[in-house]
Amino acid sequence: MSDLTEPQLRTLVEAFYATIRQDAALGPIFNDIIEDWPEHLDKLTAFWSGVMLGSGRYSGNPMAKHVAIRARLSPALFSRWLSLWGETAARLLPPEPAAAIKATAQRIAHNLQRGCGLLENI
Ligand code: HEM
Repeated sequence: MSDLTEPQLRTLVEAFYATIRQDAALGPIFNDIIEDWPEHLDKLTAFWSGVMLGSGRYSGNPMAKHVAIRARLSPALFSRWLSLWGETAARLLPPEPAAAIKATAQRIAHNLQRGCGLLENI
């Protein structure tokens, strides 16, 4: 586990989705599907709190949510997502937690892509 705090995660999540909503490739997907942004940001902060801090604050099924929209997803979009996530983390967090949360996102993104059938035999 890293030295991240809940307020740092909240700030990171808010900045990341503010950026992603304006991204030409990713923005339309999120803006089409997410109806309640405050709720989404609460949920994603809870998700990262669960993953990075072991808080158990999140209960949900990200795999099912992404499988449901798999027709709109691609490895290129996941790369873009990861690059924006890495940039935002590097901008807002100290180097060590930034590297930790970037690596964790890469691992989860890989699993999501595999679950969505976007990767063959990797
Ligand atoms: C191309 C990349 C991605 C796209 C376009 C995308 C898009 C979305 C969308 C539209 C939702 C809302 C689904 C709904 O409410 O029906 C969602 C939910 C979510 N996403 Fe992603 N996502 C991507 C990658 C990721 C990655 C890499 C992670 C984690 C590292 C992630 C974590 C989550 C979580 C935790 C939720 C909330 C699931 C729930 O409702 O409990 N996403 N995503």
